[in-house]
Order: sequence, then C-alpha cells, then structure tokens
Amino acid sequence: MSGFEARWLDLREPADHAARAPSLLRRAAHHMDAGEEPRPLVVDLGCGTGSTLRAFGQTGHGWRWRLVDNDEALLAEASQRRPDGARVETVTADLAHLDREILSGARLVTASALFDLCSDGFVANLIEALKSIGAGLYAALNYDGTTTWSEPHPMDEAIVAAFNHHQRGDKGFGPALGPDSGPAIARLARQAGFMVETAQTPWDLGPDQAGLQERFLEGLAQAARETGRVSGEAAQDWLGVRTERIATSRCVVGHLDCLALPAA
Ligand SMILES: C[S@@+](CC[C@H](N)C(=O)[O-])C[C@H]1O[C@@H](n2cnc3c(N)ncnc32)[C@H](O)[C@@H]1O
Repeated sequence: MSGFEARWLDLREPADHAARAPSLLRRAAHHMDAGEEPRPLVVDLGCGTGSTLRAFGQTGHGWRWRLVDNDEALLAEASQRRPDGARVETVTADLAHLDREILSGARLVTASALFDLCSDGFVANLIEALKSIGAGLYAALNYDGTTTWSEPHPMDEAIVAAFNHHQRGDKGFGPALGPDSGPAIARLARQAGFMVETAQTPWDLGPDQAGLQERFLEGLAQAARETGRVSGEAAQDWLGVRTERIATSRCVVGHLDCLALPAA
C-alpha cells in the first residue's frame, strides 16, 4: 500500500492527459508499432489505476500491457477499468527492489508521475536494465520544481521551496530525485546511448479544476509544514488565501516528459 488514493489520481488525470506531450506519445506509439511482434509488450511502472494506458487511447489497445504497482487496491481498479479488448496483466511489486524479470519481454517501459519519488540509483539501474533488453522508456509528468500563480502571494516562493525540499525526501527508494528527476532521466539515458527527447508538459489549472487545485494546495501546505521551514500558522494563512483565489487565478505546475529510445 503506497498512500496514493484512486480519488487523487482521478482528480489529476484530466490535467495529466491535457499536459502530456502528444509528440512524445506519438513517437512512443510509433516505436511500439515499428517492431515485428503483432502485440508488443508495454510495462507500466507505478501504474496507479492505468492512466498511461488510457493516455495512449485506441492506439494502445492493440498492445499487451503489464501494469505494475505496490498498491493492490489501485491494481484492482486498473484491472477493472481496462479497455475492452486490451490485454492487461497486473503485477504487485515493490519497485524499490527492482526485479528485472518484471521488464522481461518489454518493447517499451512507461511511467507517469513516478520518477520524482525515485532515487538517482533507481533510475540508473532501470536504464541499464532497459539497455540490456533493448527497450525504450516513456517517462511522463516528472515534476520540475516550478509552481506559479497568476496572482502572486508573498509566501509562494517559501512554500514552493519547502515543498521542493520535501520532494527530495525518501519516498521508499532512498533520497528522491524530486524536481531533478526529468533531467536525471534524460542525462542517464543519453549517457547509456539512448536517443532522448524531452518536452515541457505543465499543468495549467484554472477555476474549472477547483477540486484538483484544492487537493494540490493542501498537499503543498502540508509538505511545507512538515519540513519545518515554514511555520504551521504561515502555511495555514497561505492555504486560506490561495484556496479563496482558486476562483480568480491560474496555477501552472511544471513537468518534464522524457522519451528515450534505443539507438537504431
Ligand atoms: C503519483 S502516482 C501515479 C500513478 C499513475 N502512473 C498515474 O499517472 O496516474 C504514483 C504511483 O506509484 C506507485 N508507487 C509508489 N511507490 C512505489 C513502489 N515502491 N513500488 C511500486 N509502485 C509504487 C503508487 O502506488 C502510485 O500508483
């Protein structure tokens, strides 16, 4: 059990799908369909309820999917939501102890909103494993450390800095990459000889995404408080003002998507 609820993942999915770079999704799909296997295998790490499978739409229904997570409730949800006709298997595993068998047979490994939880060592080990089996990597929605609002508040900078500090804490994989995960994936994959493309894929949240904004703001304030770098009172005041302003301001949260494909 990881602590990620299906309700939170459902709130973020529309923003995630709007943010994902269509060009990288297309190239990833092209890589999948360019092989000789009629139903190539994608392994989705930290799949949650299967957002990445849905992000590929109809194109992905012709592939086989191995959905991996350590949260059995999310895997059950992913299995229940699998599109008609899609071949999906679910695997319960703690990725912090990566068993390379999980990747076997993959033409592409995918993950979204996962790598900021992971350590540099995890990414290096994964990329080495991908190189050894000749698979590509599509890593979407890696938080890049930037969160800004159209109506600034004097505490924004301190809250985001404390949140980013919290992001680097241990989330089960050792010290997390947090905002460095996107650049780290790109660097390590290039060093390993992959062809790497990146795209900035921010959330751009308006009043129509009030539910997501509320939960996101609560998470920012709570993480900032937990670091001790911002007082509980200051975080609470900031949260109050920010929550009131959801109706009038926009919030932009930066991400970096990476696609790493084996050199031809
Ligand atoms: C932010 S959620 C993203 C879920 C999904 N990829 C999406 O985009 O909606 C992170 C996911 O990683 C999973 N996760 C976190 N730590 C894990 C670990 N050590 N082993 C396996 N899965 C893990 C969580 O259960 C959760 O489903």
